[in-house]
Order: sequence, then C-alpha cells, then structure tokens
Amino acid sequence: MTYSFLLRTLTAVLLLASTLTGRRVLAQTTLLQNAPGRSVLSLDGRWNYIIDPYETGFYDYRREAFDQSPSGKGGYYDNQKPSSKQQPELIEYDFDQAATLQVPGDWNSQDSKLLYYEGTIWYKKSFTLAPKANKRYFLYFGAINYEAHIYLNGKKLGMHRGGFTPIQYDITDKLSPTGENFVIVKADNTRHADAVPTINTDWWNYGGITREVFIAETPATFIADYQVQLAKNDPTTLAGYVQLGGDGRAGQAVTLTIAEAGLRQTLKTDADGRATFRVPVKKLQLWSPQRPKLYAVSLSSGPDVVQDRIGFRTIQTRGQDILLNGKPIFLRGISMHDENPLIPGRARGEGDLRMLLTWAKELGCNYVRLAHYPHNEIMLRLADEMGLLVWAEVPVYWTIAWENPATYQNAEAQLTDLISMGKNRASIVVWSVGNETPPSAPRLKFMTSLVHKARSLDDTRLVSAALELRRDGYAVTVDDPLGAELDLTSFNEYAGWYWGGKPSEITQFKFAIKYNKPVIISEFGGDALAGYHGDADTRWSEEYQEALYVNQLKMLSGISGLRGMTPWILADFRATRRQHPVFQQGFNRKGLISSDGKKKKAFFVLQEYYRQQALKYDTK
Ligand code: GCU
Repeated sequence: MTYSFLLRTLTAVLLLASTLTGRRVLAQTTLLQNAPGRSVLSLDGRWNYIIDPYETGFYDYRREAFDQSPSGKGGYYDNQKPSSKQQPELIEYDFDQAATLQVPGDWNSQDSKLLYYEGTIWYKKSFTLAPKANKRYFLYFGAINYEAHIYLNGKKLGMHRGGFTPIQYDITDKLSPTGENFVIVKADNTRHADAVPTINTDWWNYGGITREVFIAETPATFIADYQVQLAKNDPTTLAGYVQLGGDGRAGQAVTLTIAEAGLRQTLKTDADGRATFRVPVKKLQLWSPQRPKLYAVSLSSGPDVVQDRIGFRTIQTRGQDILLNGKPIFLRGISMHDENPLIPGRARGEGDLRMLLTWAKELGCNYVRLAHYPHNEIMLRLADEMGLLVWAEVPVYWTIAWENPATYQNAEAQLTDLISMGKNRASIVVWSVGNETPPSAPRLKFMTSLVHKARSLDDTRLVSAALELRRDGYAVTVDDPLGAELDLTSFNEYAGWYWGGKPSEITQFKFAIKYNKPVIISEFGGDALAGYHGDADTRWSEEYQEALYVNQLKMLSGISGLRGMTPWILADFRATRRQHPVFQQGFNRKGLISSDGKKKKAFFVLQEYYRQQALKYDTK
C-alpha cells in the first residue's frame, strides 16, 4: 500500500469522523514539495493581535467552543464589526484597532510583556486575492508554536499541533469572490505533558507564527510532491517519484529534466496520479561539503512547472566508518538551536540563518546538528548551498508520554512532515528520532516505531538519536537498547560539567560502547560567561570552558570508533532553566559564541582541532 494511498485514506477517515462528530476540522493537505518555490503571495509583515489568556475568543462563558456550536459563530475569528455608529451589537474585541506583531517572529521577543507569556494570542491579517479560474490556492505556514486553530473569512480550516513543521490548507474554494479576505489564527504555546515536546525542555518556549506565511498558487492539476535523489548507495542511478494533485491527475505525462546531467525523462502517472522512476545517470558531480554541487532540476506536467536546486550524494556506514560518496568522513560538527543570539528569539529569516551557518563554517565545520526540532526549510537549503551536512531531529525530548497513542501519532506526524520537507536536500544525512529519552519498555517501543517510520519514508539516509549512558565512577557504558535500531551510536556526555569534577579530571573517563557502529558525540560542553576570566578550575569562566574542550577532545580521541561530534552549542541561547543572576540571566551559556556575538576561548580550541581533522580526512 503506497504512502499516498494511506495518507488519503487517513484524511478521508479524519474528515468522516470530524463530520460525524460535528467537529468539522479539515485535515491539512499533503504538504506541497518546495512550496516556497511556487508563485506566492507573501503574508509576512505586521499582523494585528489580541492576547487571550482566558481563551475568551474561543469558548463561551460555559467553556463551550464557539466553533463547535451549531452556528459555528461567536469567536474572535468572526472578526465581527458593529453594524452602525451606535454599535447596537456588543462586540468586545476589534483586531483592526489592535496592536500588531511582526510575522514571522515569536511574540516573546517582540514585547517585554510577552517574554514569559504562555497561552493564546490571536493574529489577524487581511489580504486581497482574486482567485483565477483553473488555479488552486494553498495557505502555507512555515511553523506555528504550538497549537494553532486557523480560520479563513470566519470559516475554520483546521487545527494543527506541533511547533516546528509546516501547516498547509487548500483554500481554493474558500476565497472570497470579492477578492477581499482575512485569515485569523489562534496560536497557543501552552506546554502539555502529553505534547511533543513535553512540558519540560531546555529551550525557550517561543510562541506564535514563527516562520514564513504565504499563499501558493498552482494549476488545477499540479505537481504536489516529488523526490529526486540517488538510489540508495548507487551514484549511477536517480530514483524517486512525482505525485500529482487535483482532478485529472491519473494517466498524466510528467517530464523530469536535469539539463546539466543530460537527463530528460518523461513519465506517466498511475491511477493515483503517481509516477515512480529509476533512471541511469552519467557521471554526476556528487555533492559534498567541499564541493556542494547543486543541479537545476525541472519537473513539468501540463501547465505546471516546478524548478528546484538539488544535490546528489550517497551516505552509508561500513563497520565504524561513515562513507560520503564512498569515502570515509569525519563529521566536524556543532549543535545549534533555531535562535539568533544577537536578537534573542526564533531565527527570523534567511539573514539570521545564514549568520549561524557562516559561524559554523568559520569554526571549520562540515556538519551541523539542528537541535532539537525541525528547523526552517530555508536553513536546509542554505546547508545545501554552503556545504554543511545536517542532522535533523524531531522534539521527542526527555520525558515524553510514551504510552499515549495520541502522543505517538503527533511525533510520527512531525517526523513525516520533517522528512517530507527535507527529503530532497543533499545536506541532510541523519534523521534523528529524539534526544536523551529515559530508557524503558514503552520508550523503546515508541522510538523503535519512529525509527521504522523514518526508514519506510526514506531508506537513503541514516537514522539516529541521542542515547542514554550508564556511569560508574569514570567508567561510562553505552548499551542503551535503542542503539541496536540505529545506524549511528550517538550520545550526549557532560564529563567536566554535569559530572566528573573539574576539566583536568575528564581524561580519566573510559567508554565501553556496545555497538560496532560509527560513534558520534551528539553533545558535550560547559557554560562560560563571555568576558568572565579565572583559572581552569573556575566554573563559568572562559578558561574553564577552554580547559573542558581541550580535555574532552583528548579523552574522545581515545574512542576508536569516533567519527564525529556536535559539541553543545554554537551560541548562547535563552532557557528558563538557567537563572543564575550573574552567569546566566535566563541564558544557557554553553555557546562557543556569546549572546552578543563574541567568540569565547573554547571556540578557538575546537577550530584548531577541526583544522587538524580536515587535514587528516579531506585530503584523502
Ligand atoms: C542536554 C540537552 C540540551 C541541553 C543541554 C544542557 O543534553 O540535550 O537540550 O541544553 O544538555 O544541559 O545544556
């Protein structure tokens, strides 16, 4: 049974269930592949907003949801206006006279009153769009953290949970014939124990419409999805599929063109509107960090033409080696959050993202860990362009509600959307199903299911997760049962910070690793307040962090299967757990770069180590 068939079945069941229960919620449509590449109407900019901690705009005073009432009316999403100057109707809100927030952008960093705010904020944006005949229109949000109810012209489009993956609705039949429309979003970043992530994390709970918003226009029958990559471990064969959407998608011709590779292949879609292919390619210039070659790829079907820039490479493991295009590689990485440290808050667009990756290149990286959740698609495209391999991750983080089926469905949906968004990006080489989750039978079942899901969606990339360790004095054992399911043995270890005394003691640690797989240290590090100086034993000083890195690198070099690392973390970032009034002030200070852009002493220790690693590996 194909994935698209399953997805359509699930959608149909959802719609039927929602209709029967009167809870008419439209399941979002399959995410358009390369949606930003479509001709779009951007809705970025100032949106009016209303703070609503009691959800007055959503529930009546008996706590019944307005949009589930027979009329479906009564909530802020009606955007009701008085019928005359006398204001005969009692209306206790007015978006158009309300203040505005910048979109994309979390609300916490835009107004000091909202820094710690957790709850609902309503957003409203008006736009003019006169729908053309034989066109379809998709409303697309890059991300809304965490739960979003979305309405167009007062009608509910749907509800979405998950703060870091795209949201999309087909609005073709819901646009106003006058061309004048308004979209209203109820965004709620309240944390929940059964959510993904759960109630406890070590990053700021930035709420709101945090990524780009636009309307994509397509022909009536359109190219909805596609994958164009090398077949697994085979640099001479392109494999993938094209999925058409809309009516009349069956039996259609689709042409795949990669002119620079001398490839032009015409396919025919099946009854589902899907065409798969496996075509031989002449010598492609393979993508790598040193030579991040991207090809212009064009897909056309009838009036629809989609252009993309795609790199081609293979990634696999052989014993304890990681092979990129058949050659052993060492992953010189760094972890990073989706946050601009200079203007703390979610990264606001390409400029912020390019700055972060430029710092990583300056550090000597060929690899980044985009922790702990799906990052912006723009980040993935920049990594393709700049030559950085990527570990992409879903926020199955710490103490997830392992035995709650809805929690698993949510995690699997976020993983599916992440893979859908990233599957054509050469830079992505690892799908991570989680981070530092406490071992138990329910956790193993939950995460093993995610591993299998990832492999069923994409068998060309590696699958991993940050595993748990067992410690007895200086003896560290890595035998987390989840490790048996993964391609890489990755784990976070904090010798010299959370455990094991001072930096000078770090080299006494020895690791016993159960699995004969490549070892990637997914985190190590320690806090330092930039500009605070002391000796190597003075916690919080730059010298302590520097000595920690020197000794960590010495100790880790003793692990025979070591094939990479992503120390924690590129830059200081906001975290509510970090409340020391002098050294933290609400920031996690493990950054190698401070929240005002200063490189700490440890930055140069890692930079030198990576320079030597590059000499050892890249010249082969
Ligand atoms: C953990 C966790 C990070 C956290 C870091 C820290 O390993 O994965 O999200 O920020 O350690 O404690 O600083």
